[in-house]
Amino acid sequence: MKTTTNSIDFRAVFAPRRARLAAAMQTGAAILPTAPERLRNRDAHYLYRYDSYFYYLSGFPEPESVMVLLAGDTPRSILFCRDKDLEREIWDGFRFGPDAAREVFGFDECYSIAELDARMPQLLADQPALYCHLGADADWDARVLGWINAVRAQVRSGVAAPSAVHDLHRWLDDMRVVKDEHELAAMRRAADISSRAHVRAMRAAKTAHHEYEVEAELLYEFRRGGAQAPAYTSIVAAGANACVLHYVSNDAPLCQGDLLLIDAGCEFNGYAADITRTFPVSGRYTPAQRDVYEVVLAAQAAAITATRPGARWNEPHDAALRVLAQGMIDFGLCSGSLDKVLENGDYRRFYMHRTGHWLGLDVHDAGEYKCDKQWRLLEPGMVLTAEPGFYIRPGEGVPAHFENIGIRIEDDVLVTADGYEVLTAATPKSVAAIEALMCE
Ligand code: GLY
Ligand code: MN
Ligand code: MN
Repeated sequence: MKTTTNSIDFRAVFAPRRARLAAAMQTGAAILPTAPERLRNRDAHYLYRYDSYFYYLSGFPEPESVMVLLAGDTPRSILFCRDKDLEREIWDGFRFGPDAAREVFGFDECYSIAELDARMPQLLADQPALYCHLGADADWDARVLGWINAVRAQVRSGVAAPSAVHDLHRWLDDMRVVKDEHELAAMRRAADISSRAHVRAMRAAKTAHHEYEVEAELLYEFRRGGAQAPAYTSIVAAGANACVLHYVSNDAPLCQGDLLLIDAGCEFNGYAADITRTFPVSGRYTPAQRDVYEVVLAAQAAAITATRPGARWNEPHDAALRVLAQGMIDFGLCSGSLDKVLENGDYRRFYMHRTGHWLGLDVHDAGEYKCDKQWRLLEPGMVLTAEPGFYIRPGEGVPAHFENIGIRIEDDVLVTADGYEVLTAATPKSVAAIEALMCE
């Protein structure tokens, strides 16, 4: 039976990640559940999405699964998953079951999820430390504590319970923040599909009448390209809506003269793309729109150029901010010297978010931004976004021709051995390229 649309060698990709984690832990047991299925209404579920940490180590896509990793001289990786159930498979489709899951995903042992409570106290016995993530789900926390207490109850038979608990996510964050070649292949695919979707949206915008018609073009191209879902809810924001940072209703009419800000990216095999483009519904920027656009474009270029191994995390942001703040001064929106505007924070009225975030399995991906209280050093294999913006709401001192202009330009940038690579470079970005595409 065909079970998946891709051809990942799960053993080759995922088993080495488990081995790396076990080597880093040295001793102890890690426990990691995947995400639960969630109801959307009555008995209808949201489209299922596995937990990103669980997927990173297992590649296993089914709900009701828990992974256990025992470190030590002979590490063991164990999966608990749903049983084969031919009756349920008639309704819901294929499930691996423990035997096939062990074979395909390269686990040492696989058991029915129904055996989890019975087996965990044995697995945790005499483990010096437990690695798990507590605090996200009270029911899960209680279950883990129940297993620890079940081990403690055996102390008179000479069994020791774990005496330390470590946050597993923190350990995995350091692995996830640097992408391997398999992850980068998926991210390139997500970027290419998403670039095509933006091009399609630009072409459609000229004749569309509502934001949702343009959103439909994005979704069409995502699925047509083989992406499983949008990586996050698409933002398709015309005119003043572009100044609402998390606008997602996408139901307003498009008016000639409006800019349309689209922030949209797909998820391919778990990995996100995150692209923003801002273009005129008519196909031609007005002079004021163009002036602001060129400042944001220059700010983004400054951020991207500052992205290289050895740079600190804040350097792209600081580079973009200087260009944006100078633009605000030049447009008469902020007054005083550049240093003063940067110091007193006046720029925040028009630029209130940061210039990037990690990107990967999660659109705002795992990974610390500071280490030892210092902005983190960029390393080859890290992927981050570069997404400066300029949002001009009507207000005191704002000339009428700038009112309601909201512009963001966002690309996905890989840190390479000697600089950077823009994974989303195929998405038209210059004024000339966008106007040419829309007017062809
Ligand atoms: N689309 C979410 C973000 O740009 O961060
Ligand atoms: Mn982003
Ligand atoms: Mn975005």
